[in-house]
Amino acid sequence: MNHKLVLRGDRPLKGSITAQGAKNAALPVMASALLMKNGTLELSRVPDLHDIQTMSDLLRNLGAEVHFSEGKMNIVTPDQLDWATPPALVRKMRASSLVLGPLLARCHRAVLPLPGGCAIGSRPIDLHLKGLTKMGAEIRLEHGSVHAEASRLKGARIYLDFPSVGATENLLMAAVLAEGETVIENAAREPEISNLAETLIRMGGQIDGDGTGTIRVKGVEELHGTEITIIPDRIEASTYILAGAITGGDVTVKGMEPEHLEALLAKLEEAGAHLSIQGDCVRTLPDTLLSAVSLKTLPYPGFPTDLQPQIMAALCLARGTSVIQERVFESRFLHVSELKRMGCQIELQGDTAIITGVEHLTGAEVRATDLRAGAALVLAGLAANGYTCIYQMGHIQRGYENMVEKLRSLGGDVEIVPCDENEGPKF
Ligand code: EPU
Repeated sequence: MNHKLVLRGDRPLKGSITAQGAKNAALPVMASALLMKNGTLELSRVPDLHDIQTMSDLLRNLGAEVHFSEGKMNIVTPDQLDWATPPALVRKMRASSLVLGPLLARCHRAVLPLPGGCAIGSRPIDLHLKGLTKMGAEIRLEHGSVHAEASRLKGARIYLDFPSVGATENLLMAAVLAEGETVIENAAREPEISNLAETLIRMGGQIDGDGTGTIRVKGVEELHGTEITIIPDRIEASTYILAGAITGGDVTVKGMEPEHLEALLAKLEEAGAHLSIQGDCVRTLPDTLLSAVSLKTLPYPGFPTDLQPQIMAALCLARGTSVIQERVFESRFLHVSELKRMGCQIELQGDTAIITGVEHLTGAEVRATDLRAGAALVLAGLAANGYTCIYQMGHIQRGYENMVEKLRSLGGDVEIVPCDENEGPKF
């Protein structure tokens, strides 16, 4: 049975919620468990999300045991692992490609169906494969799958043409068990990379420079079990801060790392939002009226592409004309046509969206085309007059834990309603 999300908007949200653990930190950390031999990785603050279930199923398929309950996850990795990944699971989630580096390092071979494009762009993994080849892997593409082999990976100097998050993570995991030193230049600097590096260091890895553009890794023979806490989810936390701002409400997000979302907080302050930032809490003060701002998405510490749809929703109600340039993904604008159904005035010119603020939005039937596009529609729906019905809410459940409960605790009028698989917006 499918579900749709029904919201009645135009009411200021009020109250506080606690940020979940970061999906995009938990996924690579889970994949890193494959690097241990007979070890247990104990994770805390793991969010209960569809993507986490998919990664758990993938690890189980490869021979690991995964136990997950109330934010705590134990992954037990045996001596022998399977190195061929099941196509059905890999196709469900692009982040499945994060097992490639660990499998190659631990099992000396791996087969991974090439993850296809997705709604936000073609998203190739050429940088992952180029880096692994530099480390001595032989890689063939056969029948739509990557076949990789290496006796033992060798340390190498790798320059990434783009600071890809996934490529940095895959290469970092491959390098910890390689022979000699690996230097990853133009590495991604996202906080999730440092959460992974800290996990690997606790397992016995030797890593220096994570969080900067140059990561140095000295390969070791074996890694052991350890425990780690997943960092707060900066994108989820930001989405609720934006929910406070877009409804002119008074929302406090607790248990977060405000320095991980400086790009958003600075932009919101530039737009005139009243924020209070104290310790691990950010609060939006009531009666915020936003003014237009311009921004471009960039790798961290630039403005995150994963917040582009949500801030666009907020800017649709700001005074004046805002310009957003999407520089990370090639087609991350599928939310635009859905937002327009709610009265947003947005013009697209290539990788740029020009947004003219309007006074009011009107609830409509819309479709969540991907995770963050869905989050943007939720924000617009919270601010709009009348009812908004969001189909394909499964996309939202890939990244937001207990979203309905959290919004209700802030006074949002939100419910999940079962619907037929083929039911969709009636235009
Ligand atoms: N790219 C290449 N070749 C590669 C790798 C990437 O051309 O080998 C391109 C991609 O096509 C894209 C850009 O580089 O245009 C950025 O891709 P990146 O590899 O940095 O992203 P990712 O690792 O696939 C992670 C997050 C995404 C987030 C991006 C950017 C996870 C599991 N996913 O994806 O999260 O948008 O980094 O910050 O960490 C989301 O949570 O909604 C989401 C899509």
